[in-house]
Amino acid sequence: MRATPLAGPPSPSACISISSPLPHFADVVVIGGGIIGLSCAWQLLRLGKSVVVLDPSPASGASFVAGGMLGATAETTFSEAGSVDRHLFARAEWDPFLRDLSEDFGTSLPYASTSTVVVGVNRSDLAEIDHLVTFQRSLNLQVATLGREALDQLVPGLGRSLRQGFHLVDDAAVDNRLILRALLDVIDRLNGHLVHESAEHLDRSADGFTVTTSGGAISTSHVVVATGAAPAVLGAIKFPSIHPVSGVILRLTPRASTLRVTTTMRAIVNGRPCYFVPRSNGELVLGATSVERGYDLSVTAGELHQLLDDARIVFPSIDDYSVQDVEVGLRPTTVDHNPVVATIEPGVTVALGHYRNGFLLAPATAKRVAGLVSGSTS
Ligand code: GLY
Repeated sequence: MRATPLAGPPSPSACISISSPLPHFADVVVIGGGIIGLSCAWQLLRLGKSVVVLDPSPASGASFVAGGMLGATAETTFSEAGSVDRHLFARAEWDPFLRDLSEDFGTSLPYASTSTVVVGVNRSDLAEIDHLVTFQRSLNLQVATLGREALDQLVPGLGRSLRQGFHLVDDAAVDNRLILRALLDVIDRLNGHLVHESAEHLDRSADGFTVTTSGGAISTSHVVVATGAAPAVLGAIKFPSIHPVSGVILRLTPRASTLRVTTTMRAIVNGRPCYFVPRSNGELVLGATSVERGYDLSVTAGELHQLLDDARIVFPSIDDYSVQDVEVGLRPTTVDHNPVVATIEPGVTVALGHYRNGFLLAPATAKRVAGLVSGSTS
């Protein structure tokens, strides 16, 4: 087993590297090492299963780029109304998930922020938010109205044009990279195998499956497919169709004297959404565009310009931050935006299509997958 600590600034493909050789057998092979696959692997290890995670670059991709918002309220929009129960259940799973992960990791893992402020810049933006808030309250989601004074207390330094906002008291955020790092670590500590190889083929055998990888082959009783936005092509099995929705995110670092954001903030600026997610070291995650253009990871100057222009209307001190990273994440999306977490044929469970809510849903999905694999959930 080899653990390589970060050297230099992190990049999307270099979070932390723990890698094992491919064993001959595991109870469960998890294909995909993003937030969903790693959370599933950890829960399965806690149940006493032997687990191999296959991913050429675990803890990278959209999970590494993500803001880490647990937007149970904010992401319950008109088109996502059917997901309110799933969102609330998932949000409630985060307290025990963080408690158990902290325990296994040996270090306390706090929330990066415990609530979210929502602001709009002009009358039309505020009307849009107001309309959505009325709907969210009708679903018994907790949203408080904030005047400018209350806004100033929660987020000092807001742009002068902002007069009113809302407080989503349950919409916390986590530091995505810290959670990924902790998951890699606890999987290793619980004797899980993180194998930096891709799964190339899946064949049924007399007593389960053979997974052919880029470096060898492994036998297993159960396969969990959590391949994010990458197409799952593993032989004859037909997997749910997933397409990517790309999002550009910036990571910004304040100077010593720069005003810092300490509460997650979502804004609508002249009809366009953006968000700010703080980290305990002062770093700020600024996101995100939402564009369907396949697997293209390029960033145009125009979209960057737009995101920064919108952000500085909401929080002018952003001008004093340094740009640390510009990244693109591919949100894995089903046609109806609902994730698919199910055993699709004996011994094959999928956890796919978590779209904008990979972090929010990860603990609930992992619990369900562990139940499906162990036979305690149908
Ligand atoms: N969950 C926020 C996003 O997908 O941008």
